[in-house]
Amino acid sequence: MSLPAIHVAPSILSADFRVLEKEVKEAEACGADRIHCDVMDGHFVPNLTFGPFVIEAVKKCVSIPLDVHLMISNPQKYIAQYCDAGANVLTVHAEVCADSLEQVLAEIRGRKVRAGASVNPDKGIGLLLPHLAHMDQALIMTVYAGFGGQKFIPSMLAKVKAVRDEAARQNLALDIEVDGGINRESAGLCAQQGANVFVAGSYVFGSKSYAERISAVRKAAAEAWNKRQ
Ligand code: DX5
Ligand code: ZN
Repeated sequence: MSLPAIHVAPSILSADFRVLEKEVKEAEACGADRIHCDVMDGHFVPNLTFGPFVIEAVKKCVSIPLDVHLMISNPQKYIAQYCDAGANVLTVHAEVCADSLEQVLAEIRGRKVRAGASVNPDKGIGLLLPHLAHMDQALIMTVYAGFGGQKFIPSMLAKVKAVRDEAARQNLALDIEVDGGINRESAGLCAQQGANVFVAGSYVFGSKSYAERISAVRKAAAEAWNKRQ
C-alpha cells in the first residue's frame, strides 16, 4: 500500500490554557498538521473539559484543521454545534452510538466535515469494522479515554492492524488515528501496523521544543511506513 499522508495532531488537553492562542499558534508554526481537541462531558468519561465555544476560539487562531474528539454521551445531539464551531474532523465513540453510528457519521459528512468513529481499549473493533466505508477516520484509543499523560497500551496494535487490513481489503483510503501515550517509539509501532494520524498531547505540549517532538513523531512514523512497503 502506498504511503498515506502522515498527520501529527497535538492535543490541546496538555496545553497551557492561560495562553491557548499562543500554544496552538506555536504548534502550527512547529509543523503540526491538525489541532486535536478533546471534548469530555464528565459522563461518558470522568473528566470534564470544554465545549464548542473553545473550539470556535481555537478555529480563529490557526489555519490547520481542527480534529475534534467527542468523548461524550449522546453525541448525535451535538453534531451540528461542533460542526458549526469549526471542526474539520469530528470523531464520536461507537460505544455510545450503538445502532445509530452510520446515521451519526452520515450527519457529520452531510455537514461537509470528515467523520470519525472510535472505541476505548476494552471494546472490540467489531464496533467499527462493519462501518468503515461510512467513515473517513477510525480512531483507535491506545489509552482509556479521559486523561492525558497515560501509558500507551501495546495490545491495541492488533486493532490498528485489523482495521488497516480491512480498509485495504475494501480499498478504502481510511485515516487510522491513534490517541494516547504517543511518542516517537509508540508512533513507530503504530505506523508499522498501519496508523497514519498521531495524536500527541503531553509529548508535544509537555516539552520544550514542540518542533523537535512533532518532527520526531513524523520521522518515526514515516520510517515505519517505508518498512511496510
Ligand atoms: C485522552 C485523550 C487524548 C489525550 C492524549 O482521553 O483523548 O487525546 O490528550 O494525551 P497524551 O498524548 O498525553 O496521552
Ligand atoms: Zn483525544
